[in-house]
Amino acid sequence: VKNIGVLTSGGDAPGMNAAIRSVVRSCTYYNLQCFGIHKGYEGLIEGDIRELNARSVRNIINKGGTFLKSARSQEFRTPEGRKKAYDNLVKYGIDGLVVIGGDGSFTGALKLSEEYGFPVVGIPGTIDNDINGTDYTIGYDTALNTVVDAIDKIRDTASSHNRLFLIEVMGRDAGDIALNAGIGAGAEEILIPEEDMGVDRLIESLKRSKKSGKTSSIIVVAEGDKSGKNIFELGEYVEEHLKGYEVRVSVLGHIQRGGAPSCYDRVLASKLGVGAVEALLAGKTEVMIGVVHKNITEVPLRTALEKKKYKHDKLIKVADITSI
Ligand code: F6P
Repeated sequence: VKNIGVLTSGGDAPGMNAAIRSVVRSCTYYNLQCFGIHKGYEGLIEGDIRELNARSVRNIINKGGTFLKSARSQEFRTPEGRKKAYDNLVKYGIDGLVVIGGDGSFTGALKLSEEYGFPVVGIPGTIDNDINGTDYTIGYDTALNTVVDAIDKIRDTASSHNRLFLIEVMGRDAGDIALNAGIGAGAEEILIPEEDMGVDRLIESLKRSKKSGKTSSIIVVAEGDKSGKNIFELGEYVEEHLKGYEVRVSVLGHIQRGGAPSCYDRVLASKLGVGAVEALLAGKTEVMIGVVHKNITEVPLRTALEKKKYKHDKLIKVADITSI
């Protein structure tokens, strides 16, 4: 491998810049040329590709978002789109690709490898922490801290008015953000997709909390929760069935994806970037570089795309006990 391309794809995540920086500087270290591909696969199709050197990535380790920009490309889902993308890789002499993103991005990378035998390595970058084969994805830790910070602020106003707040957090189909931020912010209840407690149990539990002397409550709801109601319907239902509380709903939204990456995410991104370039140099392809029990690991991209096996039961118990 002589020329490595790097792109960020799918939803941006804090720490993606630190990962790009690490890939670029690993290339310099190993005497490889690095090419930054803009707007993910969309830029690959359009040929929006520029050479990067160690100085091109100065002052970005502390920045949220991705300076390469990101996109969810529809055209890359078609064989015609992938052909254009492949032709551009050849045009620039790129012979290895690092894809920073989530499952959609990895699916695209695998297609490129399957159809053209093109060497690809993935780095998990998403706030959702929903990628199999890695304990953490880049951006997750920062998002958790952002969410906890936001809930702390909501708690101030909730307790001042004796209100019950339902707070929706991101995570797509995964409850990692909700469960961990919920525990960290001291939520009374946490609704996650992996464990549907049902609205009636929720009401019973809130009644018990009220009886025990609580005057306000925070309920964290994962956007993918399986209650069958959207958060506003859920809010109305709770207000109807739990007399004596004023209910408010707050959807945190994209604030969760922004902001300066935490130190953990910067270090993780730096390690995974080095790992990705070293994997390509060692002739590896169709792998994702992840972290398992603090060790940098390689797993097949196909494994990374399998549904993550969650073991949330212990954490759920912790949430139950500490919110008593
Ligand atoms: O995958 C990251 C994520 O922020 C999810 O948590 C959320 O469901 C989705 O992206 C939102 O996507 P968009 O930015 O396209 O609205």
